[in-house]
Amino acid sequence: MATRFPAAWLDELRNRCDIVQTVSGYVQLKRNGHRYWGLCPFHGEKTASFSVDAERQLYYCFGCKAGGSVIQFVMDIERMEFQEAVKFLADQHHIPLPQMEDDAEYQRRRSQRDRLLEANKEAARFFHQTLFSDAGRPMLDYLKKRGLTDNVIRKFGLGAAPSQWDALTLYLQEKGFTLEELRLAGLTVVKEAEPATDTTPAKPRRAFDMFRNRAIFPIIDQHGNVLAFGGRALGDQQPKYLNTSDTPVFNKRLGVYAANLLRKERHLERVVLVEGYMDVVSLTQFGVNGVCATLGTALTAEQARLLKKFAPRVHLAYDGDKAGQHAILRGLDILQAEGIPARVLDFPDGLDPDEFIRQHGPEAFARLPAITPESYRMRRLKEQHDLSTQEGRTEYARACAALLRHLDPVELEGHLQELMVQTGFSREVLSAQIGLNVPSPANEAPTSPAKPPRPRPSAPATEDQRAQEVLISLFATGRVPSDIASPEDFDEGLMRNLYTALMHGASPASLAEQQQAEADRERVSRILLTPMSEDTDQLLAMARDCLSRLRIRRCQEKINNVMRDINQRTGDEKQAALNQVQQLTAELKRLKAGK
Ligand code: CTP
Ligand code: MN
Repeated sequence: MATRFPAAWLDELRNRCDIVQTVSGYVQLKRNGHRYWGLCPFHGEKTASFSVDAERQLYYCFGCKAGGSVIQFVMDIERMEFQEAVKFLADQHHIPLPQMEDDAEYQRRRSQRDRLLEANKEAARFFHQTLFSDAGRPMLDYLKKRGLTDNVIRKFGLGAAPSQWDALTLYLQEKGFTLEELRLAGLTVVKEAEPATDTTPAKPRRAFDMFRNRAIFPIIDQHGNVLAFGGRALGDQQPKYLNTSDTPVFNKRLGVYAANLLRKERHLERVVLVEGYMDVVSLTQFGVNGVCATLGTALTAEQARLLKKFAPRVHLAYDGDKAGQHAILRGLDILQAEGIPARVLDFPDGLDPDEFIRQHGPEAFARLPAITPESYRMRRLKEQHDLSTQEGRTEYARACAALLRHLDPVELEGHLQELMVQTGFSREVLSAQIGLNVPSPANEAPTSPAKPPRPRPSAPATEDQRAQEVLISLFATGRVPSDIASPEDFDEGLMRNLYTALMHGASPASLAEQQQAEADRERVSRILLTPMSEDTDQLLAMARDCLSRLRIRRCQEKINNVMRDINQRTGDEKQAALNQVQQLTAELKRLKAGK
């Protein structure tokens, strides 16, 4: 039965297993004020930007923006689901598990989710069995023709969608799934009945399989749930790949293909990210480990953060064609923004990873150099400049200098050499252009002093948003009375919810935990870190200041809105609008006077 832990018991659990103590089991922490700092376990870094706030019982990494409560930390570091992590912590601290709570809405959603996942699992079984039956002969032949072995076919649970219109739908209905469930899971297409018109006869409701006559790649997440399917046409039919659209259990922007296999790999140094399902299966067959693919979209920030949980580095191994090269540049931007170290595998002759490893073999794949993002970008820039002319070399050197500016001296050295050779400019000239005083290798390299953590919190978009965030962080101290504000002061849903929850006494750690979306959870963790000041009067003054700025701006906005179309109004309407402006102006004056 779907159940959940009572909130009060979770509060107690979080208090008993102190976050500093728990994190210390994995990360060496140093105290500084009320925060502890260490090297982030979720992304590779050399300077400490991972902070643990003892007072708030929250952690947050200013580098990769991972953040949350002690339970979230255990989920991420041990790769556990929520319930697993809670039990793990409770067990560690000898805290008995409570009576579980039931909640009707929660249960309804949980049970729908469970039903759709169950339907997907049955479908995956059906496809896989069909592959080895007569109906699956053409698909098995196709996969064999592509060079796949029985072994790898089983490892990925590949399957066959037969050509019959409704084989899977009938099979799953027999198993007790309703058409509505199959439609929601994206397995069945339902065409509603149409009444007769003057020109066409009535049509009954029809249901047919989404996937027909295709080789099937089940998409399975790190917990073993079958989320969706990709179907490869056996020939040149379009589309080449048909994928499950988003469903209540599947969002193609959040997951990666083969996450189920990645999770089982321990101590991976890097994940290899490719474009296609076939590339994953093929590389795996040739013994490359840690391979996964996005699901028919460009890499998203969410996927980047997921990859970070599996390995400290990402190797982009996209197709060697023009589209792949473009996707690499975008992928590098995303990874860089998330603070994840990346390398690029550049395939010659426009080959994709599958074609490359079949033509050249696994040794050649292993020998492919893992290029730094800067080298890769330089390579692309080089194609855009004519290095046989002085002008071309100058422009190219300038563009590269801008690219290399953020590197530290050690990282810079190799690229500088390359640039000297390519452009003929001296070390001094290039260093000056880069804006750094790079020592020549003959001199001893200076020991770089430990840099202070470089806070890089995801900046809120507008000043209004910022003011709301600051307010929330102030109310979370418990030292600013929350009744100086009201829910209407927060126009962003998330901020309003936080305010209301804080008013009702929720703890910051529990609020971070409740966020379903990872981005929200991380944002909430950042907002709820203890503010720097300890002085209650100062906190209160800051809160009043934020509130007044918010209220003044909103009042001004309302006035502007009414004024904008006041001339299109006539008679009573116009008079009412004028009155409204008058009231608002008076209000604005009061606000500005600080009353
Ligand atoms: N893709 C898709 N829809 C298409 C084509 C591609 O969703 N019509 C996605 C699929 O996830 C596919 C990936 O993009 O795995 C890569 O596509 P592509 O490079 O065209 O195919 P290959 O991986 O080379 O596949 P194959 O070797 O089977 O031709
Ligand atoms: Mn291919």
